[in-house]
Amino acid sequence: MLKALVIFFGLLALSHAASVGTASNATEVCQSEDEMWGGEDIRKFYFCLDGKVITDECDDGYYYVNNATISGCLPSEMMQASCVNLDIKVPDCSEASKMRPQACDDVASFYLCTSEGAKKLPCPEGKAFIDQDGYLGCFKWSVWRSLRNCTDG
Ligand SMILES: *[C@@H]1O[C@H](CO)[C@@H](O)[C@H](O)[C@H]1NC(C)=O
Ligand SMILES: *[C@@H]1O[C@H](CO)[C@@H](O)[C@H](O)[C@H]1NC(C)=O
Ligand SMILES: *[C@@H]1O[C@H](CO)[C@@H](O)[C@H](O)[C@H]1NC(C)=O
Repeated sequence: MLKALVIFFGLLALSHAASVGTASNATEVCQSEDEMWGGEDIRKFYFCLDGKVITDECDDGYYYVNNATISGCLPSEMMQASCVNLDIKVPDCSEASKMRPQACDDVASFYLCTSEGAKKLPCPEGKAFIDQDGYLGCFKWSVWRSLRNCTDG
């Protein structure tokens, strides 16, 4: 009986440890010695080298996923649709309604119409673009993740 309890609590501790993959300090604390892991920024992934966290980024148009079936950079078409911007067109800046920032294919950038036409601008570091539910602009990845229902590590 006692042994069963110990095993049970041991399992609890293990599953707790396994769930910190996307913890807020995933970018600073080694989560695994031999596997990559993701963080809040969907373009980035991390791995451990000599006890230090190394940050790497997927190529343009690819995003990092780490779930029960896949770990790695996937092309946007293979991602959960709520996590990516597909079928984005460069805004036609001739209409007055286009004078607002708009989503672009890279989720961490946006289009802005200027006197020279549409310009693609990056969000500040640590932020991604949202135009949804009254949110318009660059917001922290954690806010972006929850508004987009994009919670897969
Ligand atoms: C952050 O890392 C420290 C170890 O440096 C750990 O004790 C703490 O639980 C971590 N916090 C989170 C939210 O994972
Ligand atoms: C893992 O992520 C991929 C891409 O988003 C998705 O197609 C797949 O269904 C996910 N697997 C699980 C078990 O959630
Ligand atoms: C996210 O999920 C909530 C609740 O399931 C839903 O109301 C909302 O429309 C979803 N948002 C997106 C962008 O999928």
